[in-house]
Amino acid sequence: MRLTVIGTGYLGATHAAAMAELGHEVLGVDVDPDKIEALSAGRVPFFEPGLPELLKKHVDSGRLRFTTDYDEAAAFATVHFVGVGTPQVKGSYAADVRYVDAAITELSRRAVGKHVVFGKSTVPVGTASRLQQLASLTVSERARQAREAGDTQAADALENTSIEVAWNPEFLREGLAVKDTLEPDRVVLGLQKPGAVCDGAGREAEPAAEAILRECFAPILARETPIIVTDTATAELVKVSANAFLATKISFINAVSEICEAAGADVTTLADAIGADARIGRRFLNAGLGFGGGCLPKDIRAFMARAGELGADQALTFLREVDAINMRRREKAVDLVKESFGGSLLGHTVTVLGAAFKPNSDDVRDSPALSIAGSLSLAGAAVVVHDPQAMETAKRVFPTLDYAPSIDEALAGTEMVVVATEWQQFRDIDPVHAKSLVKRAAVLDGRNCLPTAAWQDAGWEVTSLGRG
Ligand code: UGA
Repeated sequence: MRLTVIGTGYLGATHAAAMAELGHEVLGVDVDPDKIEALSAGRVPFFEPGLPELLKKHVDSGRLRFTTDYDEAAAFATVHFVGVGTPQVKGSYAADVRYVDAAITELSRRAVGKHVVFGKSTVPVGTASRLQQLASLTVSERARQAREAGDTQAADALENTSIEVAWNPEFLREGLAVKDTLEPDRVVLGLQKPGAVCDGAGREAEPAAEAILRECFAPILARETPIIVTDTATAELVKVSANAFLATKISFINAVSEICEAAGADVTTLADAIGADARIGRRFLNAGLGFGGGCLPKDIRAFMARAGELGADQALTFLREVDAINMRRREKAVDLVKESFGGSLLGHTVTVLGAAFKPNSDDVRDSPALSIAGSLSLAGAAVVVHDPQAMETAKRVFPTLDYAPSIDEALAGTEMVVVATEWQQFRDIDPVHAKSLVKRAAVLDGRNCLPTAAWQDAGWEVTSLGRG
């Protein structure tokens, strides 16, 4: 099949390369010429394990190309995936849908024939049906104008043009994006209500999205991956509900972690014990500095904002608490470091290991690690940061911190170490060697990822979150 992928960030670039891997001819589209230049040269402009190899393979084979040109996109294929960003609106909880709107508008201004658009971006419920109306209106307006201008040929073609907007949410995790795209747990497809898709003459158009998606994902579906076909509102809600559930699970264990701290109990043992119950499950029960990144924090906020617009805000007030518990963990970590210095950080050096919001990523969006590094610095500490991958992205957001090129250099002469992202490199640190580098052997294990006994045996004072 020939298809386009509009938006080439984490989601889009991975989807484009994965679709080429499945055998399709793919054109990636983005408004950012720098990104397109990098991708066209086979370079991934962010860190995602496995993606550079896949991208290069298919750029070299010619099956994957990139462009900034919507004319080319509309002419190249009649199947389009949209994976543009939906960031949080500044000063509001709502999601900013201007980029999805722009993608649909640009396509609708150019498309001729029967096109199907699969939205993949995380959007407020109701977006797909609004976009369907936008697409249908744009096409019928073009048909009307062509007819008025006496361009019969164009008018006939546009009256037979339709754009079907379906929703196919994406559940990939950064760091595992390639695997999650090629081997998803499930495929969700949201279709428009009967009669919602119209051509340029206002006639009901035959829906084609389900058959096309099944063909597109044939190798994935052949492995008996479950596919859930539903309406667009449900598909949109599946995605935000999944992220809200994951965020709630993390904040649940972090709330219990606060109780463990007060009661002198151990949250990691507790998580193992409750997680052994299959109904609960151990995954996403790692207590620590909480969740960050470009998705979970903004998605729970956008979900609350949308619930408010729908008059159902009471249903999601608990997500405010989920958000608050999450942010409190960062404050707690900063307080523990302060306490360790008797209340004031002035004149002290603290090393923060980690800047990315999670390991195997260079993404620092809403990163608990970087947020803590920033708070410690603002409270007067001299902060040294090291991250195996996120140094450049972190420097752009927080240029005033000190960045050390290696773990050893980050530890040299420091008075306190905070492990803020659970990179394997940090788990593997030899506490005996590390002790020989520092001025004061104190560590805060913000992710409960260190072998505590080994560090204590080496003479470190270890503070953990939620462990007595
Ligand atoms: C998340 C979802 O997991 C994906 O399914 C979804 O597709 C994606 O958002 C999205 O909406 O695009 P991601 O943001 O890559 O994926 O990261 P996660 O692996 O979910 O981790 C989120 C945060 O939670 C990280 O900061 C991580 O450190 C934290 N976390 C995770 C915990 O604090 N404890 C845990 O037990 C698990």
